[in-house]
Amino acid sequence: MRILVTGGAGFIGSHLVRHLLAERETHVVNLDALRYSGNLDNLKDLDGHARYRFVHGDICDAALVDRTVREQRIEAIVNCAAETHVDRSIVEPGGFVRTDVVGTSVLLEAARTAGIRRFVQVSTDEVYGDVPSGRSKESDPLAPRSPYSASKAGADLLALSYFTTYGLPVLVTRGSNTFGPNQYPEKFIPLFVTNAIEDQPLPLYGDGLQQRDWLYVQDHCEGIALVLGKGEPGQAYNLGAGEERPNREVTEAILGLLGKSRSLVRHVTDRPGHDRRYALDCGKIATLGWTPRFSFGEALKATVAWYRDNAGWWQKIKSGEFRAYYEKMYGARLRDAQGGR
Ligand code: TYD
Repeated sequence: MRILVTGGAGFIGSHLVRHLLAERETHVVNLDALRYSGNLDNLKDLDGHARYRFVHGDICDAALVDRTVREQRIEAIVNCAAETHVDRSIVEPGGFVRTDVVGTSVLLEAARTAGIRRFVQVSTDEVYGDVPSGRSKESDPLAPRSPYSASKAGADLLALSYFTTYGLPVLVTRGSNTFGPNQYPEKFIPLFVTNAIEDQPLPLYGDGLQQRDWLYVQDHCEGIALVLGKGEPGQAYNLGAGEERPNREVTEAILGLLGKSRSLVRHVTDRPGHDRRYALDCGKIATLGWTPRFSFGEALKATVAWYRDNAGWWQKIKSGEFRAYYEKMYGARLRDAQGGR
């Protein structure tokens, strides 16, 4: 199969590209705009790989997308390209609508025109909104509450509409919070791990009792690949680990693994509209034969070890554009913060 992975230089995308290439018959074309979180360092090991090709470009560029699909004889598309960070979406929502909604619509149109055999839209558990109790099923109404999750919900529903309206074989995956090597250090786990390594404060939002279900990136990629191969067109599939943890507990686990003091923790002003809990019912994907292979404990240990062993990777990022972002997002919060617990 010849597969177009968009956003393949990003975190989940780069792991997915490598995972798909492990299948000997698969060819992968990676279309990535290389904006702030797209990073070719994530794919260095694939330089010169016979079944891999990189195309630099934006999913909103319809002419480029059409040309790539045609010239590369693409049979399937997996859309991993997205603006994904909730805090950035609160500051600059427009870019999220453009990439996540408009970009997805461009890909869907290209897929429809070219008669693509499979289209996987990589969505998120955040489309269900805040879930105070119980677990979200795929049939639940979407109730996103941030510009990020609203833009992903728009793309998710648009993709499914292409199945209903045009019979395009669309599949949607709704993964839970993902972590692992190569994740851009704006996200909670890599930010806290790298800050702790450098003995910098850890900015914990609000009371730190918000809960997320933590899925290791390898498990997430295996789930996406399974849906690509065996999912039923027109269906959405939840992908969660069942490893719900309050942020405080994750913070303590990180500090424990690095042998660092709790005094690094700062309780800072909460994120506006902060969803307190996400939780997924994963019965549907289990019927396809997927369950996560990694426990949270072993995956976090491997992740912390990767950041410790690959300081060059994240120090390069943190010394660039990231510094201005960090000051804007955390400067005042940290100056006003209370320390300890
Ligand atoms: P994040 O990685 O941004 O993922 P999402 O908001 O999409 O779930 O955040 C995970 C959790 O960690 C979320 O409850 C917000 C919290 N958090 C902090 O407490 N401090 C931070 O600096 C960040 C980035 C996140």
